[in-house]
Amino acid sequence: MSDNFGDGARRCAPDADAKAQVPAASLRLIRPDDWHVHLRDGAMLATAVADSARRFARAIVMPNLDPPVRTVDEALAYRARILSALPAGARFEPLMTLYLTEETRPAEIAQARATGLVHAVKYYPAGATTHAARGVRDLARCYPVLAAMERHDLPLLLHGEVTDPSVDVFDREAMFLERHLSPLMRAFPGLRMVLEHITTRAAVEFVSAAPQTLAATVTAHHLLLDRNALFAGGLRPHHYCLPLLKRAHHRAALVGAATGGNPKFFLGTDSAPHPRHAKESSCGCAGIYTAHAALELYAEVFEKAHALDRLEGFASCYGPDFYRLPRNQDRVTLIKAPWRVPSTITAGTDVLVPLRAGEDIAWQLS
Ligand code: DOR
Ligand code: ZN
Repeated sequence: MSDNFGDGARRCAPDADAKAQVPAASLRLIRPDDWHVHLRDGAMLATAVADSARRFARAIVMPNLDPPVRTVDEALAYRARILSALPAGARFEPLMTLYLTEETRPAEIAQARATGLVHAVKYYPAGATTHAARGVRDLARCYPVLAAMERHDLPLLLHGEVTDPSVDVFDREAMFLERHLSPLMRAFPGLRMVLEHITTRAAVEFVSAAPQTLAATVTAHHLLLDRNALFAGGLRPHHYCLPLLKRAHHRAALVGAATGGNPKFFLGTDSAPHPRHAKESSCGCAGIYTAHAALELYAEVFEKAHALDRLEGFASCYGPDFYRLPRNQDRVTLIKAPWRVPSTITAGTDVLVPLRAGEDIAWQLS
């Protein structure tokens, strides 16, 4: 087996030479982290957590449970449930988040910071997506909390879409940038923010041009699929997520950003399991389950872009650097050997249909 990396921290340098790629049989990486995941709760939690923990050392855990995780006490209780759902012997650190509401108190922010276990606050525009009904209607009403976050250096994670029904669903991310993100950055220049699961060329350009306080996560599914995948031969509910998949040129811009070695762009799967019946429905839920193969799917993208030497920076270095956490010490090995994804995954009493169900993925974890 060849290992196509050299050694040492140099591997994470964003400006590392784009070496000519030799076909790799294996790839050794600093163990990655997932900077945006939905682990859910109850029956589904054990499966989601086991899949994530197999690949990732840590994950930023989304708070959009029903009811949402709004207080530090709720976040700590959820963290304990996640840890007790871990398979025996697994090591995994859930990095907790709070769900921002117009009622969130600035004092909650100080308390969150003091625990060392809550790493960010998540903004959902009310009604934008799954369990976002209790999200924010008027961001201006959150300004005292945002000021506290800026003071305590607790990052704000953005579901960056407007919910204005007059805006076309494919334009909602681009509209968010000018209507909300620009004013937010002017009002809170010291507040670190992550524009989550970006899907457009406009978002890539915005983040690239912004100060270092702004970063973005990129999902595997937005790197692999464009909006044609929603309608390939018929309606494909398992490719429905929010923000929606976009046109091919947007996907190309995302691939350029993720594989380009810019530390502002890092891995966040947005793996979001829903039971099969909730997806295959007359009003199906948004969310794609990728935790079963997340790193492997990203490896496919980086290999196609001739950028396997930049996967480690994206997956294992830039995220911890942004969150001011140490990079992981241990490593994982990916092997170039195709495997067949099962057509369904049982998760407690539920059945999930994962991304690539019944099809092959080119890489696997050793
Ligand atoms: O596709 C999505 N699913 N997008 C989100 O923003 C939420 C997520 C979920 O929780 O299901
Ligand atoms: Zn999400």
